[in-house]
Amino acid sequence: MSAHYTKTAIGLHWSIALLIFSAFPLGLYMHDLKLSPTKLHLYSYHKWIGITVLMLAVLRVLWRATHKPPALHLARWQEFASSVVHAALYLLILVVPMTGWLMSSAKGVQTVWLGIVPLPDLVSKDKALGHLLGNVHMILNYTLLVLVVLHIAAALKHHFLDRDDVLLRMLPGK
Ligand code: HEM
Repeated sequence: MSAHYTKTAIGLHWSIALLIFSAFPLGLYMHDLKLSPTKLHLYSYHKWIGITVLMLAVLRVLWRATHKPPALHLARWQEFASSVVHAALYLLILVVPMTGWLMSSAKGVQTVWLGIVPLPDLVSKDKALGHLLGNVHMILNYTLLVLVVLHIAAALKHHFLDRDDVLLRMLPGK
């Protein structure tokens, strides 16, 4: 039986997961809408959620850098595969929102977090760069999607096939 994650690690894990599960479909949906006030509102909500992910991701990476996760007792190939996927997920939860912020800056649309905190534009207005960053944002999002699917499949395999506590130790109150 391995140790449980801390409340902080669990809280950060599930709040980031919930926000990504909202930002991703919202991003796909809003992108295809015709220009309207609704579209503009949805773009703002998408950016607020994304910037919140970025802030929580910074906290999460700092937390991870200063705290060892509870030891896993798995086959070596599984430990290796999980550390590669986890490192990539940590990177993407930082880089995906950063590319969104960079894209908005390049497109000349300032991000105002929750409608109250204006964030600085990271680059000056540049249409071609904005277009390029839009493609980068989309490709990284699909990469994130593939890794999240793998991550969930692995967690479910551990729980239902291997019947170990890999999933349980990340659940609150277990
Ligand atoms: C974890 C955070 C985020 C996720 C999962 C996410 C996901 C997505 C997805 C799936 C799309 C649709 C891509 C497409 O089909 O082209 C999208 C579009 C977009 N995202 Fe994000 N995003 C995140 C963060 C951000 C942030 C922080 C910003 C800006 C501050 C942002 C700005 C945008 C914009 C402006 C678009 C529309 C691009 C266009 O219409 O050309 N995103 N996002």
